[in-house]
Parts: sequence; structure tokens; C-alpha cells
Amino acid sequence: MNSVVVGLQWGDEGKGKIIDYLAKDTDIIVRFQGGNNAGHTVVFGNRKFVFHVIPSGILRKNKVCVIGNGVVIDPKVLLSEITGLKAKGIDVSPRNLKISLLSHVIMPYHKLMDSFRESRRIQKIGTTMRGIGPCYVDKFSRCGIRMADLINPKKFTLKLRDNLKEKNPLFVKVYKRAPFSFKKILDEYCYYAKLLKPYCCDTIDFFYKNKRKRFLFEGAQGTFLDIDYGTYPFVTSSHTVSSNAILGSGAAPIKIDRIIGVTKSYATRVGEGPFPTELKGKLGDYFRNRGREFGATTNRPRRCGWLDLVLLKRAVMVNSVTEIALTKLDVLDGTEEIKVCIDYKGETKERHSDYGLDEVKPFYKNLKGWNKDLSSVRNYADLAPLAKKYIVFIERFIRRKISFISVGELRKAVIVR
Ligand code: IMP
Repeated sequence: MNSVVVGLQWGDEGKGKIIDYLAKDTDIIVRFQGGNNAGHTVVFGNRKFVFHVIPSGILRKNKVCVIGNGVVIDPKVLLSEITGLKAKGIDVSPRNLKISLLSHVIMPYHKLMDSFRESRRIQKIGTTMRGIGPCYVDKFSRCGIRMADLINPKKFTLKLRDNLKEKNPLFVKVYKRAPFSFKKILDEYCYYAKLLKPYCCDTIDFFYKNKRKRFLFEGAQGTFLDIDYGTYPFVTSSHTVSSNAILGSGAAPIKIDRIIGVTKSYATRVGEGPFPTELKGKLGDYFRNRGREFGATTNRPRRCGWLDLVLLKRAVMVNSVTEIALTKLDVLDGTEEIKVCIDYKGETKERHSDYGLDEVKPFYKNLKGWNKDLSSVRNYADLAPLAKKYIVFIERFIRRKISFISVGELRKAVIVR
């Protein structure tokens, strides 16, 4: 059985927890896009793990985690993640962590470029400033540095020299900043290369040799942050949708049995961009505090709002979602009236995320909330009837089964139907 897990909103849907749950019946867990702009949180025992680059499946024993070619890697962040996990007693070695030689490396100039560009924009994107966008730009303009280059001193020297030749005048003349030191970057990155080299491999060959194993593809961010299908330009620089699981991993077009779309029971967004169901007042603050909605990567407060079924339906379509994981249902406990967006006012049905989303006004269906604590419920039958009503309403609207319901931070706080 091969599965893909993707976010159906603007990221932070709680994918990490669902991936961690599914990883137990999987052999190989693969990240296929994004970089350390992502932050997946998993709580197990009384320990909290936040992953930025390494697939959260690393917490399970006897699994192999792969960072695919579609990922962009900040070597310093990856190394500190490896060290941090090891310090917590988690096994991380070249046996269970493989990095694609084709993945691209985030360089110091990418990070600075990210913040310079953002600070000069009139229309801000709200990037995480991790250098993600500029790294992908270099990839596509064919001057990127790949892991294969990083671990080859001769190639790395040449590519770094070439990049600084092109970029330093820009930093000096346009951004009025001191040029980057070739020697400093070379020394620093050669040190990272030495430590990361044992993990690097030909992942295409690895997948081919393991094609009978069970794969789990772990998406980062969410559908509406996809570079094509998202709320452009307020998006990230990669394809966050399920179809990229294959292209971004090098796993060749294998059979995918399930595509699990993850959505929160409400909605959040970090950074700029349209968000039709956003709650700006006290209710928004209430959900932010109750759901601890602060970015796992940047700690920025997340914008909160009601669940938007118009967008959810579209995300189901774009990703070919076969089933849904609904997370953080417990956050809605005690909310008297729950609204769900079922249409946009004054707009035709064709108006959706491709265009005009900043102009639409949501049309809500009001549902009665439940005044019960759901956090200790482990069986669907034990859920409050009004919570079940909410679940069934969503299912009918988007025509997909909700197979997983998460009701708390703990690893075991998942209801499987
Ligand atoms: P970038 O990916 O850092 O360039 O940021 C582009 C946009 O995507 C910004 O609005 C970020 O807040 C958002 N973003 C990037 N990664 C994540 C994530 O993992 N969760 C939520 N939002 C994200």
C-alpha cells in the first residue's frame, strides 16, 4: 500500500501527526518538496518534536526516511535537526535517513535575498525568510548547487565561485551590502558536506531496489500554497499537491493507493494573502489561543477562521484525495455555533482559488456546536452527536470519507474509522 499525505489548506493542518500515525504501517517515508519553511509537530510521550526537513516518520523504528530531489536543504538546519534527534535518543544514521544527491542546497545568499526581496515588495508575501524561493529560482535558472555538488569539493568550488561572481555585484550595488566571502562560505559548507556525505545517495536507485516496499509520501505546506494551484503570488515556491509526490521524490510513477488530505476543523493561514473565512476579532483570537496557532517555524501568530468547504472541495479535486484526516476537532469544543462556508456571496460558482478569492464574501451554514470535551474520545461511536453531525456535514459536502479524526496533541489522540 502506497500513500500520499497532503495539506488541503494553507499548511499547518497537522500532517505531522497523521504521517506519524500512518508511518507504522509503512517502510519508506519520503519528503518531496519544500524545505525548512515547513514545521511538523509531533508529540509523543511527554516529548515534543518539531521537524523542518527530516520526515517525521523518523520517530518510528526500522523505517527509512528519504529527503527527495524536490526538497531544498539548508545543511546547517538539517544537521542541527539530526543532532537534536540523536540527543533525544532517536536513531538517525545513513541506514534510516537518505538524502537525494539531486536535492538543492540553500545558500547564505538565498536567505539574504529572500529577506531583501520581501522588504522591498509593496505587496508582501510574508515568506518565512528561509531562502526557499531564491533557492528554487536558482534551481530553475540552472545555477543551483545540488547535494551532489556540495559533497564534491572541486565542483562546489567552481559553482560557488560562479554564483558569487553573479550575485555579489547585485548585493553590493543594489542592496548596498558587503559582498559574501567566498572563503568563508567554502569553509563552512565543506564542513557541512563532510557531515552530510554519508547520508547522500542515489534515491532513484534506492526506490527502484525497494519498489515492493510500502511508501508514504509526506507533503509539506498545503494546497493553497502551491505555486500553481494556490493563491498566487501568496504561495510558496514548490508544488505542494499530491502529483508532485512522484516528481519530487524520484520514485518513478508507482501505484498510489490512497491520497489522504489533511484539513483542520477550522482554518488557519500564516503570512499574507486572501483568506475569505478569516475571523479578525475576538473569536479569531480565541481559536488562536485555544488551538495554539503560532507558527512552528517562525512562531508568527496564525490567522484563524472558519472551515471553507468551497476551497476544501477544490483541494480534494486538485489532489485526487481519496480520504480525509480532520484534525484539531477538540479545539471547537464549547463553541456554541460553528459556521462553515458553503458558497461565496454574489459570486458565481466558478470563482475560486485561481482568481478573485480576495474579493469574495463567504456564505455560511450555521451548525450547532457541542459542549463536550472530545480530547479523550478514541472511538467514533463515543463522539458527541453534534460533533458527528459536523463531520457528516463536511463529508457530504466534499463527497469524501473522513477516515481520521484527531482530537488532541498526543500521538494516541486519533479516532480511526
Ligand atoms: P516561503 O515558503 O518561506 O517562501 O513562504 C511563502 C508563504 O508560504 C508564506 O505565506 C509563508 O507563511 C507560507 N508558508 C511556507 N511554509 C509554510 C508552512 O509550512 N506552513 C504554513 N505556511 C507556510
